[in-house]
Amino acid sequence: MFNKPNIYSEAEIQLIKESSLLVGKTLAEVAQKIQPGIPIAFLDKIAEEYIRDHQGVPSFKGYNGYPATLCISINDVVVHGIPTDQILEEGDIVSVDCGVYKNGYHGDYAYTFGVGEISEEKRLLLERTKQSLLLGIAEAKPGKYTGDIGYVIQKYVESFGYGVVRDLCGHGIGKKLHEAPEIPNFGKSGKGYPLRRGMVFCIEPMINQGTYKVFIEKDGWTIRTWDGKPSAHFEHQIALTEHGTEVLSTYKYIEEILNKKNK
Ligand code: MF3
Ligand code: CO
Repeated sequence: MFNKPNIYSEAEIQLIKESSLLVGKTLAEVAQKIQPGIPIAFLDKIAEEYIRDHQGVPSFKGYNGYPATLCISINDVVVHGIPTDQILEEGDIVSVDCGVYKNGYHGDYAYTFGVGEISEEKRLLLERTKQSLLLGIAEAKPGKYTGDIGYVIQKYVESFGYGVVRDLCGHGIGKKLHEAPEIPNFGKSGKGYPLRRGMVFCIEPMINQGTYKVFIEKDGWTIRTWDGKPSAHFEHQIALTEHGTEVLSTYKYIEEILNKKNK
C-alpha cells in the first residue's frame, strides 16, 4: 500500500506543524461544544467552518470518498464514525479525529472525550490509552524501529486486559494524509521499519475494553468492536528533527477547554 517514507526538511516540518496547530485549535472548538444533547453533525459543521476560516481544507473530506470533516466515533465505534444526526448522551465516550491540509501539508490527530460524567471503567480506558500513546512516542527516535513503538503500546495496554486493534495503524504523513511507514500499535522490539531523521508520522493507538477484534459496518467506514464494548483512540503527530523528537500536535488547547468546563 505504501512505498518509502518521505524525508522532510526542517522548513517542511514547520509547515506540517502549522497544519497540526490548526487541527489542535479545531479540536478545541469541538471540545467546547461536547455535551449531552448535541448532534454530532453539528460538531462536524463547526469544525469545517473553523478550518476554512483559517485558510485550511479538511483533509478527510473526499479522501477515498469519505463524506465529512471529522471522524466521530462513539463508544463501541473504534474509528471512522461518520457524523450523522446521532445525539451525544451522558456517559458516552467520543473520539474526534481531524485532518487539515494547509500550505501543501497535512495535520492529523485525535482525542477521545467523555460526555458529561463517565464510568470509572471508561475513564481508565481513556487515561491508559492516552498514556500508551506517550509511551509509544518515547520510542520514536532515529535508530529505533516501528516495532519498538508497537511493542511498548501493546505491552502496556494488554497488562490491563485491553485489546489492541490490529486492523488499523498509525502512518507517515506530510504531503499526503497517509504515507509510509505503517505504525502498528502492536509488535516486536527491533522489528518493522527503521526510523530515521526527517520522518514525520502519526501514532494512534485504538484500544478496546474487550477483544481486539473489530468489524466494519455496511456503510464501508464505521469500525466497531466485535463484542460491543467501548474503544478509545488518541493520536499524535511526530517529527524526527535535527533537535530530536518533536511532537507537532498538541492537546494544550483542547485541555484548556476541558479544564474550564470542569470548573
Ligand atoms: N486519522 C484517520 C486515520 O489516520 C484518517 C481518517 S481517514 C478518512 O486513519 F478517510 F476517514 F478520512
Ligand atoms: Co491518522
